[in-house]
Amino acid sequence: MTQSSPLSRVFHTKSGKEVSIALGTGTKWKQNQDINDISSELVDNILLALKLGFRHIDTAEAYNTQKEVGEALKKTDIPREDLWITTKYSPGWGSIKAYSKSPKDSIDKALSQLGVDYIDLFLIHSPFFTEEHTHGYNLEQVWEALVEAKKEGKVREIGVSNAAIPHLERLFAASPSPEFYPVANQIEFHPFLQNQSKNIVEFSQKHGILVEAFSPLAPLSRVEDNALADTLKKLAEKYNKTEAQILLRYTLQRGILPVTTSSKENRLKESLEVFDFELTKEEVDGINQIDSTVKLYMMAGTPHLSKLLASKHLEVSEIFCFWKQLCSGILYLHSRGICHRDLKLENIVFDEEYKFLKIIDFAAADAANGGPSVGLVGSEKYAAPETYASIKYDGKASDIWSMGIILYYLMHSKFPWKQAHRNDPHYRAYSSSVNLLQFINEGSEITSQILEPDVEKRVTISRLWEDSWFTSLPFCSESSSCGLTHTIRQVTS
Ligand SMILES: NC(=O)c1ccc[n+]([C@@H]2O[C@H](COP(=O)([O-])OP(=O)(O)OC[C@H]3O[C@@H](n4cnc5c(N)ncnc54)[C@H](OP(=O)(O)O)[C@@H]3O)[C@@H](O)[C@H]2O)c1
Repeated sequence: MTQSSPLSRVFHTKSGKEVSIALGTGTKWKQNQDINDISSELVDNILLALKLGFRHIDTAEAYNTQKEVGEALKKTDIPREDLWITTKYSPGWGSIKAYSKSPKDSIDKALSQLGVDYIDLFLIHSPFFTEEHTHGYNLEQVWEALVEAKKEGKVREIGVSNAAIPHLERLFAASPSPEFYPVANQIEFHPFLQNQSKNIVEFSQKHGILVEAFSPLAPLSRVEDNALADTLKKLAEKYNKTEAQILLRYTLQRGILPVTTSSKENRLKESLEVFDFELTKEEVDGINQIDSTVKLYMMAGTPHLSKLLASKHLEVSEIFCFWKQLCSGILYLHSRGICHRDLKLENIVFDEEYKFLKIIDFAAADAANGGPSVGLVGSEKYAAPETYASIKYDGKASDIWSMGIILYYLMHSKFPWKQAHRNDPHYRAYSSSVNLLQFINEGSEITSQILEPDVEKRVTISRLWEDSWFTSLPFCSESSSCGLTHTIRQVTS
């Protein structure tokens, strides 16, 4: 049984073949080598994927994998017009500037590195940038360059990644005609994050924009033993498929095109075998429910913590009250097998009474801030060292690391480094011999295990909760009070 494509919009290669699941060539492939070396491992992975039947390859200027894709294209005998190649302009982020002087240069570089005379889909990797990042281009001007490239035939289709509704609206307005509207929006999508920003999936689909899902397997690769586990297991048994296939099929049935990746042949093969079964509407609805029944993201109530703290000095006991509240929220999430993965001051707000902390996500933060908040996968100042070693990091351990960074910030009113990246000398110099939180609790070892670079040695939230120093910290909860009168409300006007 072969189902007709459940995608909300279907692309076709130049030779007219339907475009399906993409092979991702994201940054995980370049972790253990110099960024400019060609990874033969990745070239082989792409060739294997092509042999197994993948025809859609996803790369980006920022991944530095265009050369590997080009190498694989040289070696394969699959005609170029049967393939769909997506790549992306990197406008820079955080303290990193755009790699290319202009979007046009980025397109020309992509053509040259890929060794092709046209790109099927060219995206802006993220709309969260300033003109300083891009050496002088705003979103509209970047779009103009993409429109120009489409007119010249350098790219067949143009789109965006990580865009929220206001960005898409700006791109519609910046397009000379509907023919040049964005055709795709590549965002993080899986049952635990069904809208990377407010209403983005529905809006994109309503406007004929294909939503592409990165990290569609996050419930398997990033969360252990989660609220979805039983459902996935049952569906896998029912359809004689793997849990990953259920997730990919679910993504397709939401009208969304998955971008997935694996270093393993059997998993690559499995990813393509998702067109011979169909989940029932009830089953898709059941997975959709996860988003609303698991209270991972609570709605925002107040401006986020970094704004509130801008003019407020916190006493140490108050810091611990707030921080322990944060820990209790994380204990709740982790006890349900869920990780937040993007814990940062911007994702922490107070309730209306300014007494209890709430942990929120991008979408809710957007609503609270009245505009899109910055953030892709994780956040630049908070990323744990293992984030750069493997994309398959332990989300719970990275949450603990972020909690350590937040505690450091609350204590010092600054971050330990500008950017958690090997380019930042403070981050690079940091090693286990330096305990950034050592002053906090003399006599207890536990805080040295929070900002612990070795993920194996890092404390877990339940171990922290059992520690005698930690247990002795008073904090405000539904049933008790830390004894302080929090005055944070006074600085919010
Ligand atoms: N536009 C953006 O901002 C953006 C951001 C991130 C990613 N992306 C793109 O999206 C692509 C995919 O992202 P992703 O890596 O997060 O996607 P994903 O497909 O959700 O996850 C892939 C990871 O899951 C593992 N995996 C595969 N099958 C599995 C299974 N059956 N059970 C458990 N784990 C499994 C793989 O490890 P093994 O190798 O061990 O199988 C791999 O590390 C990237 O390569 C990139 O092209 C785009």
